[in-house]
Amino acid sequence: MLNALRPQPQDKILQLIQMYKEDPRDAKIDLGVGVYKDANGLTPVMRAIKTAEKQLWESETTKSYTNLSGDPAYTAAMQDLILGDSVTSDRLSAIATPGGTGAIRQALELVKIANPDATIWLSNPTWPNHPSIIKFLGLPIAEYRYFDAESRGVDFDGMLADLARAKKGDMVLLHACCHNPTGANLTLPQWSVVADLLEKTGAIPFIDNAYQGFGDGLDEDAAGLRLLASRLPELLIAASCSKNFGIYRERTGILIAVAPNAEMHGVVQQNLAFLNRQNFSFPPDHGARLVSMILTDPALRADWQQELEAVRLNMLSLRESLASELQRLSGSDRFGFLAQHRGMFSRVGATPEQVEALRRDHGVYMVGDSRMNIAGLNAQSVPVLAKAIIDVGV
Ligand code: LMR
Repeated sequence: MLNALRPQPQDKILQLIQMYKEDPRDAKIDLGVGVYKDANGLTPVMRAIKTAEKQLWESETTKSYTNLSGDPAYTAAMQDLILGDSVTSDRLSAIATPGGTGAIRQALELVKIANPDATIWLSNPTWPNHPSIIKFLGLPIAEYRYFDAESRGVDFDGMLADLARAKKGDMVLLHACCHNPTGANLTLPQWSVVADLLEKTGAIPFIDNAYQGFGDGLDEDAAGLRLLASRLPELLIAASCSKNFGIYRERTGILIAVAPNAEMHGVVQQNLAFLNRQNFSFPPDHGARLVSMILTDPALRADWQQELEAVRLNMLSLRESLASELQRLSGSDRFGFLAQHRGMFSRVGATPEQVEALRRDHGVYMVGDSRMNIAGLNAQSVPVLAKAIIDVGV
């Protein structure tokens, strides 16, 4: 049986981690995988997580199973963090999942049970694991225009023209904020126009919310999805705690299904729990428990929000200094978009050859489509990167 296996395509983002490690040069810059790093290049455990872990160690009396859908305190706290009061809680069903990727996978499996003919519409470009999982599950897939390569902003007219072709029951995957890989995001008025279009077509939003708090703030980053939730009958939301709680390896995520009415809660919740049971049974609890402890304890929550805000502001200031250094070196405003983009990523607009030259000649590692992880920079590396970008001719 095993001799029938053929190599699978390698994940381009994860591949970069290894390549960077193997590069012997001291002066190398890692702008690859989406992990937050501080000025020393470290990914620290957040203070509130450390405190919660200590409290948990002292108070936890059992490691017995939790609930198939996850700890209810976790799902309730996350629903509140993500949706605020945009929708009444009796319309919500949710499961804890292993990370945001686990939530995406469960959402797509739910679609496959409910409507296997639904086309999943993806922004062009999107996080490469989106199409990979969708193809793996054999669901129909389509793309909508999203990024304008010239302005490095959103091609909103193209997006609307393509999404007008979505059928009733199709799923439209939207990034809640901090679009991965481009960094270009919808404005709130644009979210409202998207809501009008979805109302008209009957296509259903499927929101990937992996970076809440990394863009304009916790509530600001959820404003678009809350607007959709307040207006549309159905919604799927896959969210991750990897980045905003810095607990990447704990695999902490959630899938939330917003149903048209409270009567549907029972069957939706039962299907979600069924999917957990089929795929891995009980979801991991450690990260989820830390998150619910933080979100429900005012002092821990305040400390977490303060540290998250510092992370966000650090990325913003790196963006601004990179944009101004590039303005100085290029004598033009053509890199101004870097300060407009939000979140960890920006697609700088280098060709594959230029990305290769950046790696080969300057030790700068970014994804092949020229996605840079802004958090991989610090005050020393900003001018080095800016010079390298100009040197290779971007
Ligand atoms: C990324 O896009 O770099 C992150 O979401 C990490 C990953 O799993 O790809």
